[in-house]
Amino acid sequence: MKFFIDTADLEEIREAHDMGVLDGVTTNPSLMKKASQRAGRRLDFHQHIFDICELVDGDVSAEVTGVTYAAIMEEAKALAAIHSNVVVKVPLILDGIKAINSLSKLGIKVNCTLCFSPTQALIAAKAGATYISPFLGRVDDMSADGMQLLQEVVTIYANYGLETQILAASIRHPVHVVKSALMGAHVATMPLGVIKKLLLHPLTDRGLKQFLTDWDQYKQTPR
Ligand code: E4P
Repeated sequence: MKFFIDTADLEEIREAHDMGVLDGVTTNPSLMKKASQRAGRRLDFHQHIFDICELVDGDVSAEVTGVTYAAIMEEAKALAAIHSNVVVKVPLILDGIKAINSLSKLGIKVNCTLCFSPTQALIAAKAGATYISPFLGRVDDMSADGMQLLQEVVTIYANYGLETQILAASIRHPVHVVKSALMGAHVATMPLGVIKKLLLHPLTDRGLKQFLTDWDQYKQTPR
Protein backbone atom coordinates (compact mmCIF):
# COMPACT_ATOMS: atom_id res chain seq x y z
CA MET A 1 0.00 0.00 0.00
CA LYS A 2 1.26 3.47 -0.89
CA PHE A 3 1.25 6.21 1.77
CA PHE A 4 0.36 9.73 0.67
CA ILE A 5 0.28 12.69 3.04
CA ASP A 6 -2.89 14.78 2.95
CA THR A 7 -1.57 18.32 3.44
CA ALA A 8 -0.18 21.36 1.63
CA ASP A 9 2.11 22.21 4.54
CA LEU A 10 5.75 21.93 3.41
CA GLU A 11 7.04 21.32 6.94
CA GLU A 12 4.65 18.41 7.42
CA ILE A 13 5.55 17.02 4.00
CA ARG A 14 9.26 17.28 4.84
CA GLU A 15 8.73 15.50 8.18
CA ALA A 16 6.84 12.61 6.53
CA HIS A 17 9.37 12.48 3.69
CA ASP A 18 12.22 12.21 6.20
CA MET A 19 10.60 9.07 7.62
CA GLY A 20 11.32 7.46 4.25
CA VAL A 21 7.84 6.00 3.82
CA LEU A 22 6.15 8.72 1.78
CA ASP A 23 4.94 7.88 -1.73
CA GLY A 24 3.00 11.02 -2.62
CA VAL A 25 0.93 14.02 -1.54
CA THR A 26 -2.70 15.07 -1.84
CA THR A 27 -3.74 18.70 -1.52
CA ASN A 28 -7.07 20.48 -1.89
CA PRO A 29 -8.27 24.10 -1.72
CA SER A 30 -8.97 23.87 2.02
CA LEU A 31 -5.46 22.54 2.67
CA MET A 32 -4.00 25.39 0.55
CA LYS A 33 -5.93 27.87 2.70
CA LYS A 34 -4.61 26.22 5.88
CA ALA A 35 -0.99 26.25 4.63
CA SER A 36 -1.35 29.92 3.63
CA GLN A 37 -2.76 30.83 7.03
CA ARG A 38 0.16 29.05 8.69
CA ALA A 39 2.61 30.88 6.41
CA GLY A 40 0.89 34.19 7.19
CA ARG A 41 0.51 35.02 3.49
CA ARG A 42 -1.29 33.72 0.41
CA LEU A 43 1.00 31.10 -1.07
CA ASP A 44 1.26 31.11 -4.86
CA PHE A 45 -0.64 27.95 -5.81
CA HIS A 46 1.40 26.88 -8.85
CA GLN A 47 4.74 27.71 -7.23
CA HIS A 48 3.71 25.84 -4.08
CA ILE A 49 2.71 22.73 -6.03
CA PHE A 50 6.06 22.92 -7.83
CA ASP A 51 7.88 23.14 -4.47
CA ILE A 52 6.02 20.06 -3.19
CA CYS A 53 6.86 18.15 -6.38
CA GLU A 54 10.54 18.98 -5.98
CA LEU A 55 10.43 17.59 -2.45
CA VAL A 56 8.53 14.35 -3.05
CA ASP A 57 9.35 11.87 -5.78
CA GLY A 58 5.79 10.64 -6.30
CA ASP A 59 2.32 11.70 -7.34
CA VAL A 60 1.22 15.12 -6.06
CA SER A 61 -2.49 15.89 -6.39
CA ALA A 62 -3.42 19.50 -7.20
CA GLU A 63 -7.11 20.34 -7.42
CA VAL A 64 -8.98 22.37 -10.01
CA THR A 65 -11.63 24.83 -8.81
CA GLY A 66 -13.48 25.23 -12.11
CA VAL A 67 -16.81 23.43 -12.37
CA THR A 68 -17.46 23.60 -16.11
CA TYR A 69 -15.82 21.32 -18.67
CA ALA A 70 -13.95 24.21 -20.28
CA ALA A 71 -12.69 25.65 -16.99
CA ILE A 72 -11.62 22.23 -15.67
CA MET A 73 -9.74 21.45 -18.89
CA GLU A 74 -7.93 24.79 -18.90
CA GLU A 75 -6.91 24.54 -15.25
CA ALA A 76 -5.97 20.88 -15.54
CA LYS A 77 -3.61 21.51 -18.45
CA ALA A 78 -1.95 24.38 -16.59
CA LEU A 79 -1.55 22.28 -13.43
CA ALA A 80 -0.18 19.28 -15.34
CA ALA A 81 2.42 21.56 -16.95
CA ILE A 82 3.87 22.53 -13.54
CA HIS A 83 5.74 19.27 -12.99
CA SER A 84 5.67 15.65 -14.15
CA ASN A 85 4.65 14.58 -10.62
CA VAL A 86 1.36 16.49 -10.78
CA VAL A 87 -1.89 14.53 -10.76
CA VAL A 88 -4.88 16.78 -11.41
CA LYS A 89 -7.68 16.47 -8.90
CA VAL A 90 -11.13 16.77 -10.49
CA PRO A 91 -14.46 16.70 -8.61
CA LEU A 92 -16.98 13.96 -9.27
CA ILE A 93 -19.55 16.03 -11.17
CA LEU A 94 -20.88 15.67 -14.72
CA ASP A 95 -18.46 18.15 -16.27
CA GLY A 96 -15.69 16.61 -14.18
CA ILE A 97 -16.39 13.18 -15.67
CA LYS A 98 -16.34 14.62 -19.19
CA ALA A 99 -13.03 16.34 -18.43
CA ILE A 100 -11.54 13.16 -16.92
CA ASN A 101 -12.38 11.35 -20.14
CA SER A 102 -10.60 14.00 -22.23
CA LEU A 103 -7.66 14.35 -19.85
CA SER A 104 -7.04 10.61 -19.76
CA LYS A 105 -6.91 10.61 -23.57
CA LEU A 106 -4.30 13.39 -23.37
CA GLY A 107 -2.24 11.27 -20.96
CA ILE A 108 -2.86 13.62 -18.01
CA LYS A 109 -3.21 11.75 -14.72
CA VAL A 110 -6.38 12.47 -12.74
CA ASN A 111 -7.40 11.91 -9.13
CA CYS A 112 -11.19 11.91 -9.11
CA THR A 113 -12.16 13.47 -5.78
CA LEU A 114 -15.25 13.81 -3.57
CA CYS A 115 -16.43 10.23 -4.14
CA PHE A 116 -19.24 9.16 -1.82
CA SER A 117 -20.96 6.32 -3.67
CA PRO A 118 -20.03 3.14 -5.58
CA THR A 119 -21.85 4.35 -8.70
CA GLN A 120 -19.74 7.52 -8.71
CA ALA A 121 -16.62 5.35 -8.43
CA LEU A 122 -17.78 3.15 -11.31
CA ILE A 123 -18.35 6.15 -13.59
CA ALA A 124 -14.98 7.69 -12.67
CA ALA A 125 -13.21 4.46 -13.60
CA LYS A 126 -15.10 4.20 -16.90
CA ALA A 127 -14.06 7.78 -17.67
CA GLY A 128 -10.40 6.81 -17.20
CA ALA A 129 -9.45 8.31 -13.82
CA THR A 130 -6.01 7.29 -12.58
CA TYR A 131 -7.20 7.40 -8.96
CA ILE A 132 -10.60 7.38 -7.29
CA SER A 133 -10.82 8.97 -3.83
CA PRO A 134 -13.63 7.65 -1.63
CA PHE A 135 -13.87 9.97 1.40
CA LEU A 136 -14.12 7.54 4.33
CA GLY A 137 -14.24 9.96 7.26
CA ARG A 138 -16.81 12.26 5.68
CA VAL A 139 -19.11 9.28 5.05
CA ASP A 140 -18.68 8.25 8.70
CA ASP A 141 -19.56 11.84 9.69
CA MET A 142 -23.00 11.31 8.11
CA SER A 143 -23.62 8.28 10.36
CA ALA A 144 -22.98 5.99 7.38
CA ASP A 145 -20.10 3.55 6.89
CA GLY A 146 -17.08 4.77 4.93
CA MET A 147 -15.47 1.33 5.06
CA GLN A 148 -18.54 -0.25 3.45
CA LEU A 149 -18.24 2.26 0.60
CA LEU A 150 -14.59 1.32 0.16
CA GLN A 151 -15.40 -2.41 0.16
CA GLU A 152 -18.05 -1.89 -2.51
CA VAL A 153 -15.63 0.07 -4.70
CA VAL A 154 -12.93 -2.59 -4.27
CA THR A 155 -15.37 -5.36 -5.21
CA ILE A 156 -16.82 -3.55 -8.24
CA TYR A 157 -13.38 -2.66 -9.61
CA ALA A 158 -12.18 -6.25 -9.09
CA ASN A 159 -15.32 -7.67 -10.79
CA TYR A 160 -14.51 -5.82 -14.00
CA GLY A 161 -10.71 -5.57 -13.80
CA LEU A 162 -10.91 -1.76 -13.73
CA GLU A 163 -7.46 -0.22 -13.57
CA THR A 164 -8.26 2.97 -11.66
CA GLN A 165 -6.32 2.93 -8.39
CA ILE A 166 -8.30 3.19 -5.17
CA LEU A 167 -7.05 6.01 -2.96
CA ALA A 168 -8.62 5.85 0.50
CA ALA A 169 -9.12 9.49 1.51
CA SER A 170 -10.55 11.50 4.40
CA ILE A 171 -8.76 9.12 6.74
CA ARG A 172 -9.14 10.08 10.38
CA HIS A 173 -7.42 7.31 12.36
CA PRO A 174 -5.27 4.16 12.07
CA VAL A 175 -8.26 1.79 11.93
CA HIS A 176 -9.25 3.42 8.62
CA VAL A 177 -5.73 2.59 7.37
CA VAL A 178 -5.77 -1.02 8.60
CA LYS A 179 -9.18 -1.75 7.10
CA SER A 180 -8.24 -0.02 3.81
CA ALA A 181 -5.09 -2.16 3.61
CA LEU A 182 -7.05 -5.34 4.37
CA MET A 183 -9.48 -4.48 1.58
CA GLY A 184 -6.61 -3.87 -0.82
CA ALA A 185 -6.83 -0.10 -1.39
CA HIS A 186 -3.81 0.92 -3.47
CA VAL A 187 -3.17 4.13 -1.52
CA ALA A 188 -4.08 5.72 1.80
CA THR A 189 -3.78 9.48 2.09
CA MET A 190 -3.48 10.66 5.67
CA PRO A 191 -2.70 13.71 7.76
CA LEU A 192 0.74 13.67 9.39
CA GLY A 193 -0.85 12.94 12.78
CA VAL A 194 -2.33 9.67 11.51
CA ILE A 195 0.95 8.60 9.86
CA LYS A 196 2.69 9.07 13.22
CA LYS A 197 -0.03 7.16 15.07
CA LEU A 198 0.60 4.12 12.84
CA LEU A 199 3.84 3.64 14.78
CA LEU A 200 2.40 3.73 18.26
CA HIS A 201 2.10 0.78 20.61
CA PRO A 202 2.51 0.95 24.40
CA LEU A 203 3.95 -2.58 24.46
CA THR A 204 6.75 -1.39 22.16
CA ASP A 205 7.55 1.47 24.55
CA ARG A 206 7.33 -0.81 27.59
CA GLY A 207 9.40 -3.54 25.92
CA LEU A 208 12.11 -1.09 24.84
CA LYS A 209 12.31 0.41 28.32
CA GLN A 210 12.74 -3.06 29.79
CA PHE A 211 15.40 -4.05 27.22
CA LEU A 212 17.40 -0.88 27.92
CA THR A 213 17.18 -1.38 31.70
CA ASP A 214 18.25 -5.01 31.36
CA TRP A 215 21.11 -4.02 29.03
CA ASP A 216 22.43 -1.56 31.64
CA GLN A 217 22.29 -4.30 34.28
CA TYR A 218 23.98 -6.77 31.91
CA LYS A 219 26.84 -4.33 31.34
CA GLN A 220 27.28 -3.89 35.08
CA THR A 221 27.53 -7.65 35.64
CA PRO A 222 31.17 -8.60 36.46
CA ARG A 223 32.88 -10.75 33.82
C1 E4P B 1 -8.27 13.80 -0.25
O1 E4P B 1 -7.57 13.89 -1.21
C2 E4P B 1 -8.78 14.93 0.54
O2 E4P B 1 -7.86 15.99 0.46
C3 E4P B 1 -8.91 14.61 2.00
O3 E4P B 1 -8.58 13.28 2.29
C4 E4P B 1 -10.13 15.15 2.65
O4 E4P B 1 -10.09 14.80 4.01
P1 E4P B 1 -11.01 15.50 5.11
O5 E4P B 1 -12.38 14.91 5.01
O6 E4P B 1 -10.35 15.15 6.42
O7 E4P B 1 -10.99 16.98 4.82
